[in-house]
Amino acid sequence: MIDPRELLAILADGQPVPGNSLATHFAVTRAAVWKQIENLRALGAPVIAGSGSGYRIAAPIELLDRDAILAALPQHSREQLQAVDVHWQIDSSNSELLRRAQGGTIDLRACFTELQSAGRGRRGRHWHLPLGGGLAFSLLRPFDSGMTALAGLSLAVGIAVIRALEELGFRELGLKWPNDLQHAGRKLAGILVELGGDALGPCHAVIGIGLNLRLGAHADVEIDQDWCDLAGIGDAPMPNRNLLAARLLAHLINALDQFERSSFASFVDDYARYDALRGKTVRVPIGSEAFSGEAIGVNHTGALRVRTADREILVDSGEVSVRAMAGSA
Ligand code: BTN
Repeated sequence: MIDPRELLAILADGQPVPGNSLATHFAVTRAAVWKQIENLRALGAPVIAGSGSGYRIAAPIELLDRDAILAALPQHSREQLQAVDVHWQIDSSNSELLRRAQGGTIDLRACFTELQSAGRGRRGRHWHLPLGGGLAFSLLRPFDSGMTALAGLSLAVGIAVIRALEELGFRELGLKWPNDLQHAGRKLAGILVELGGDALGPCHAVIGIGLNLRLGAHADVEIDQDWCDLAGIGDAPMPNRNLLAARLLAHLINALDQFERSSFASFVDDYARYDALRGKTVRVPIGSEAFSGEAIGVNHTGALRVRTADREILVDSGEVSVRAMAGSA
């Protein structure tokens, strides 16, 4: 039996490895090696079969490693976290933490996974990242305040992700309300926040983040909107995946502490700096109707402010979708 994780780890540095060495290592036939290589390819890993030289991966991949993530975290974040779990494959890191919360264990913990068999996006969409080509993780965070006090939380999460990426040298990042993270108008990361618990008492948030690192050739087929990845942006060297995981986690934990202390109101100025919709004409569907207006920022609870011909309308996160009109995106 070939463990796909072990096979990928052998190929991860990008050096070619002959098929017969792999067959010997795993004590299987070369045909069995080929089959597992095909499996890695189907999962999105860019494995190339060179004529005579064996198999190699097109761009080196650093596999996620719990100890490496923990070691790269600032001490205060490490001390706050009850656990950092790293999986090879689960259905969805959000679903995993929601199950845990439903089981009654609600503590601050992170869940990373190399593969999601049922990754979820907003509004019931499927979310897919190729093996090694992205970062998918979720954080479970308890709050005492009640769910009604969590308005704007997902926008604050977007700001935390931008803070982490800016620290690593990436620029021109923006947020398309409510929380698509973009670079030059193309989607770089998605955020899915799911809440549970009491409206006015103890509650929890599961915050899921999917970030494009190096999507490769299959991305156009899998993604139905303009996308980009960190490798393609080129502002900064491609960060090591475990370091990136730790920086994202640390900024997220800090931002959630800030949110708990001072609510979304303390993020409004930062949001304005990254607001990719401001000044654009947006179309807001409400039920079977829709209206158009100019996006003029967000209020202290994260609601989108839209100025129509005769009034200003507040659009609550999660209730509607907002699209830039043709020609104004
Ligand atoms: C979106 O833009 O639609 C949100 C995408 C969120 C994807 C992440 S990947 C980690 C976490 N687990 C999931 O199933 N979804 C989120």
